Amino acid sequence: MFKLAHLSDVHLGPLPPASLRQLACKRFIGLMSWRYRRRAIHNMDVLNRLVTDIKQVGVDHIAFTGDLANISLPEEFTNGQRWLGELGHPDKVSYVPGNHDAYVAFPWEEGLAKWGDYMVGDLNLPGVRMSGNVAALFPYVRQRRNVALIGVSSAVPAPWNKAWGHVGQRQLNALADILKKLHNKGFYRIVMIHHPPLPGLAKDRKALQDAQDMKRVLESNGVELVLHGHNHEHMHNKLETETGMAHIIGVPSASAVKTEKRPAAAWYQFAIERRGGMWENNMTIRSLADAGDEMVTQSQLCLDRSD
Ligand SMILES: [Fe+2]
Ligand SMILES: [Fe+2]
Repeated sequence: MFKLAHLSDVHLGPLPPASLRQLACKRFIGLMSWRYRRRAIHNMDVLNRLVTDIKQVGVDHIAFTGDLANISLPEEFTNGQRWLGELGHPDKVSYVPGNHDAYVAFPWEEGLAKWGDYMVGDLNLPGVRMSGNVAALFPYVRQRRNVALIGVSSAVPAPWNKAWGHVGQRQLNALADILKKLHNKGFYRIVMIHHPPLPGLAKDRKALQDAQDMKRVLESNGVELVLHGHNHEHMHNKLETETGMAHIIGVPSASAVKTEKRPAAAWYQFAIERRGGMWENNMTIRSLADAGDEMVTQSQLCLDRSD
């Protein structure tokens, strides 16, 4: 059995100090949003409790679907690197970036390269994570026993009032090929992407722009599980594909206190195994209790089998 934890949207705080030059335009608006709204939602004690819970339960691998940063300041990537180091070894943690990790156009070496060890595929050359050549990095594939984790990047800088994502034709073509090959080899395929991958799952200004194309690739090549974040909500959608039913799962923010609009922090555990020629995946939702002082099992569900 392979045990996988899924968490997302850490929005690590507090924000480091920033110069006036760094705060030009969109970052300044993001800073105000952090100070007057988001700071009260993303609580680092809650985050610590959630990570401790993952470690106590014990999993083989952690899938983290983006938004570790807030406004993509250089120091946020340094702080994020330290935080990822405490979360787990790069071989056991797979990351895909979110829109807050690409908040403004920003040199790769000063930003996402610092988390590159967590986004590099098994077959990528070691230097690729430092190159800034996103085209060479994504989609990446990590094979762990009979499970394959496929990391897709939807993180692109967007105008100040937008939080959309974009995958692009090159990644979509590569993804189609990867899904086909992994199916032929008998892998359980898990796609990781920050934005919800199907049309209509997010407001236009926050949505994946090429969700329709993404849906077509998933439908025609098949996938067992897609993990995403971004909406900071519990989400479970299904998609009929050429190779059976796919489950599309979104988790709340890993650091969130409960608000009127959004649920409290949660992580999902997937226990995946092959039994009698069929895949079985038992999902457990661990979330922050209403009292806010402990993590509890909120629900358990056996996801439909597929061939
Ligand atoms: Fe987020
Ligand atoms: Fe996001």
